[in-house]
Amino acid sequence: MKTMLWHVDKIHNNHGSYPQITQAAQLLRDNEVVAFPTETVYGLGANAASDEAVSKIFAAKGRPGDNPLIVHISDSAQLHSLVVDIPDKAYELMSAFWPGPLTIIFRLREGSVSRHVTAGLNTIAVRMPDHPVALALIEESGLPIAAPSANKSGRPSPTAAAHVLADLSGEIAGVVDGGETGVGVESTVLDCTGDIPVVLRPGGISREDIESIVGEIAVDPALAGSGEVPKSPGMKYTHYAPAAPLFLADGPQEWIQQQIDEKRQDGLKVGVLATEESAEAYKADVVIPCGRRADLTTVAHSLYSSLRYFDTEKADLIFAEVFPVEGVGAAIMNRLEKAAGHRWLREKQ
Ligand code: TXA
Ligand code: MG
Repeated sequence: MKTMLWHVDKIHNNHGSYPQITQAAQLLRDNEVVAFPTETVYGLGANAASDEAVSKIFAAKGRPGDNPLIVHISDSAQLHSLVVDIPDKAYELMSAFWPGPLTIIFRLREGSVSRHVTAGLNTIAVRMPDHPVALALIEESGLPIAAPSANKSGRPSPTAAAHVLADLSGEIAGVVDGGETGVGVESTVLDCTGDIPVVLRPGGISREDIESIVGEIAVDPALAGSGEVPKSPGMKYTHYAPAAPLFLADGPQEWIQQQIDEKRQDGLKVGVLATEESAEAYKADVVIPCGRRADLTTVAHSLYSSLRYFDTEKADLIFAEVFPVEGVGAAIMNRLEKAAGHRWLREKQ
């Protein structure tokens, strides 16, 4: 299959005049799969109501069928056709954070979407992305759009159209290139079907942000390594992994440098995921300054492209600095832990 590529720089109000959006929306209505930018990462979109269209997403990604998809909408009115109950707290959160990187789990309106979207669950994940291209495309298609991140399963999520093409060129109908995404990590997934909202996946909206609106919330204990099965099916899979083994290095710079030196003496090509503050201090084969430690939103923004870069450079092994689990740091460390397969190196006392 030839993958179409459209570029969209800016969207003004009248997106009907953008032939790129019109063509991409038509492919979605034809039950084809089209990748598009959101504020978090690129999504791989398809008509959520069509078994045929949604099956194409799973096939292109190589995604296990038990991992449900997020449905993307451009207008709150679409929500009523997808869910049967909108709790008060969900209303408050939507008015605070939509459009934006918060996915809310609701009770499913049976029959509203393909059963492949929800992987047979009686709940549905919905979000309204804060990106003019995504909103224009969804609106123009007139459909609720099911969209996982537009990477092959197990690869880091794409934050640029080039990443999507690297993984899926020739396997999907098209990619709308709207430039680099902003947030850089996926949306926060919040289950609002019970009395107390529960974070199933940390993401672009922090726990602290959510609690400032609805008071105390809970976090799925599986995320803290309780050993329980995560409530969000996707969280049980190893994810975001670069080709080389990655280790979380928790210790002072000098000690991390010693770890690097030992591996280089063994003849290995060593990568370091550092920050702009620390990168110059390391002597290694590939040192990537991934944002600024003083502003973790910049680390989130660059995280996945940095992980992909180690693959391009063919590092044999990667050491990553670690970050405080606060604000967006919770999402960064969740993704790094998965990329590392939970391998930590700690300085022995
Ligand atoms: O930022 C994002 O959320 C991006 C962009 C494209 O919107 N999308 C994304 O989708 O990250 P995906 O498929 O890579 O991750 C969706 C997550 C998975 O962990 C999945 O298990 C969970 O949401 N999920 C979807 N529906 C669910 C449901 N009904 N109950 C619990 N978890 C659900
Ligand atoms: Mg994903």
